[in-house]
Amino acid sequence: MRTHLCGEINEQLADQSVVLCGWVGRRRDLGGLIFIGLRDHAGTVQIVVEPDSPAFGDAESLRQEYCVRISGTVRMRPESQWNESMATGKIEIVADRVELLNASAPMPLMMTDEDGEEIRLKYRYLDLRRPRMQNNLRTRARMYRAIRNSLDRMGFTELETPILTKATPEGARDYLVPSRVHAGQYFALPQSPQLFKQLLMMSGMDRYYQIARCFRDEDLRADRQPEFTQLDIEMAFVDEQGVQDCAESLIREVFRETLDVKLPESFPRITWHDAMDRYGSDKPDLRIPMKLVSVDEHVAHIEFRVFSGPANDDDSRVAVLRVPGGAELSRKQIDEYTKYVGRHGARGLAWIKVNDSEAGLEGLQSPVTKFLDDKAWQGIATASGAESGDILFFGSGDWFTVSNFMGQLLVKVGRDRGLVGEGWMPLWVNQFPMFEWDEDRGRFMAMHHPFTAPVVADYEALLANPGKALSKGYDMVLNGAEIGGGSIRVHKPEMQQAVFQLLGIDEEEAELKFGFLLEALKYGCPPHGGIAFGLDRIAALMSGEDSIRDVIAFPKTTTAQCLLTSAPSPIPDEQVAELHIRNL
Ligand code: AMO
Ligand code: AMP
Repeated sequence: MRTHLCGEINEQLADQSVVLCGWVGRRRDLGGLIFIGLRDHAGTVQIVVEPDSPAFGDAESLRQEYCVRISGTVRMRPESQWNESMATGKIEIVADRVELLNASAPMPLMMTDEDGEEIRLKYRYLDLRRPRMQNNLRTRARMYRAIRNSLDRMGFTELETPILTKATPEGARDYLVPSRVHAGQYFALPQSPQLFKQLLMMSGMDRYYQIARCFRDEDLRADRQPEFTQLDIEMAFVDEQGVQDCAESLIREVFRETLDVKLPESFPRITWHDAMDRYGSDKPDLRIPMKLVSVDEHVAHIEFRVFSGPANDDDSRVAVLRVPGGAELSRKQIDEYTKYVGRHGARGLAWIKVNDSEAGLEGLQSPVTKFLDDKAWQGIATASGAESGDILFFGSGDWFTVSNFMGQLLVKVGRDRGLVGEGWMPLWVNQFPMFEWDEDRGRFMAMHHPFTAPVVADYEALLANPGKALSKGYDMVLNGAEIGGGSIRVHKPEMQQAVFQLLGIDEEEAELKFGFLLEALKYGCPPHGGIAFGLDRIAALMSGEDSIRDVIAFPKTTTAQCLLTSAPSPIPDEQVAELHIRNL
């Protein structure tokens, strides 16, 4: 039907005849001349229809998004009319034939960034015609190709695992599928292929990967979808270093091949504790050049209980965030930051503006200087590196709460003040606590998942002191996003049983839910471990999108609906009855 793609035409084709297919973008009638922006997946080219052209009548009736086939001759534009921002900006096509392939109803959306999320998702097939969305999906496809090439070269085998399966706990609710054949019984859609990938190591597959769809019924945000895609990897006979080395070379190659970006030769590693302590986050954005510092030792002696209380308590801290140049912040802005941290559990946000760093306490402006003495201020100033013109924010209280809200503040202030640097800053976060205590449920929860191995000699050591145990889990973080997570797994039945026991899963429940795993662990299971990358998140980072919806062809809304097909939707009583359930 066509000889070229619209986006391919350039000055080398001058004077040649071409036939192009595509959609009508902008159409301008300029006193007899008609200009059309003709667009296909490769780009846009300018078509000119002159008044004496046999195509003129047909061109006059074209409207936005009409689907057409146009024949014509490539002509150089006069230099004064070159459009350097367009790949095809030095030429235009003088049309001699315009053939309507299909008309279009008036567009329900503008097909620009101004369109709202709802209309974009309802008419997703039109939204996807936009170059931005086309680029995003094609970048994603290039990433997939690079992943497969890299893993194939490293000796991995691509395998598929079931979608209709048994629940895998990854911390979300399950999507369930009632069985027609087995009344009252249900499949669960996988939250991840976790147990199958471990079983494949027990099968001797050695190195497995899968681009796997995962389903999680959880509260959604910009970086979470109810169904999303992981790159799952599992390896036998490895330790943490083995998995991380492999994952690093994969990600380096994928960025090089997809974006021509060179990531560092070796990614820095930080323990979970240090990440929380220094950045107030388990996924620090190293592009923001600010850190939290603890000043407990400098305020432990002062009268001000808000500071000295936590400073003298082992489970608490007083943390300072120094914002360079932040003394210019207004009271209103400071109040807004105070409200912001309040939403993350802060009871207040003390601050000090450093007007003159040479003048000691005299050079400060703050609601709390009256509580400080010279010694305290000198300590704080040195620890934080305070300079004239800075503001220092203080968080004090329980270690985790303070680290968390100060970490949120660090990112917010960093973004608000344009401090986020350029480039790609990957890192590993490791040595997570094995368990976190859930106050409401009154029991331990797994920080990664229940199959993650603890850093202890044996299961007896774990049972003796579970609250202090660290795990062999790790996350890969890139520019403040958790792009992957994994661990070395438990490979002995007694250890797996001990972990279940600590998670409050009794023997009966363990047998019912994971009997097959406990059984499989008995037959010479090799030590193994792996990782899963969130491909939607990586694709969003690569495309510079804030939301993973913009790199998924047909995503769901934040209320887990597909507006295009209107799913989920009611089903008739008879069909429901067949599944041995009832419509409410
Ligand atoms: P985890 O739960 O950390 O680990 O998931 C791995 C990665 O998947 C991405 N991700 C998501 N992306 C979009 N929407 C979601 N709702 C969503 N949830 C997670 C994140 C995350 O880092 N079985 C383990 C992996 C393993 O141990 O090998 C697992 O699923 O980028
Ligand atoms: P108050 O004594 O409650 O008036 O607090 C004095 C100053 O300390 C105010 O600027 C509060 O915002 C701040 N403040 C109170 N509680 C905290 C806290 N937990 N962390 C940091 N600053 C606090």
